[in-house]
Amino acid sequence: MTTPQPHPVLILNGPNLGRLGSREPEIYGSATMADIETACTALGASLGLIVDVRQTDDEAELIGWIHEAADRRVAVVLNPAAFTHYSYALRDALAMRTAPLVEVHLSNPAAREAFRHTSVVSAVADGTIAGFGPQSYELALRAVARLLAR
Ligand code: DQA
Repeated sequence: MTTPQPHPVLILNGPNLGRLGSREPEIYGSATMADIETACTALGASLGLIVDVRQTDDEAELIGWIHEAADRRVAVVLNPAAFTHYSYALRDALAMRTAPLVEVHLSNPAAREAFRHTSVVSAVADGTIAGFGPQSYELALRAVARLLAR
């Protein structure tokens, strides 16, 4: 019998998410991106996923990673941060995806300012998880594991 190979998953994060821990803690909490990476790496291992967590403030770099995921047929958990609300370039890159895509947010954008109520990403994602703080990422990883098992 062959043992199933672990699936790689990219966990990609957009602008200002490298500042978690000190960025508006009343909204985003006190966990840092490093804390999220540690939790996701451990959960991923238990789900048969090898996670690769990245963050950038640069739209072009983020789009390059989306292209890489499409070429490698790798699943993506994506927190597009502010790009969520206006980046048609990011949305067009995601439309080329070849594997599961779950959009995540720490906060619940629907309960915040009006400009956050639009996501240009949601329509090309399998689903969106928002409002559960760092746990949003863990729920998204569980969703990816289910989608990959289909
Ligand atoms: C966010 C919500 C966005 O509206 C905001 O621009 C962010 C973070 C979240 O995780 O709650 O940078 O994506």
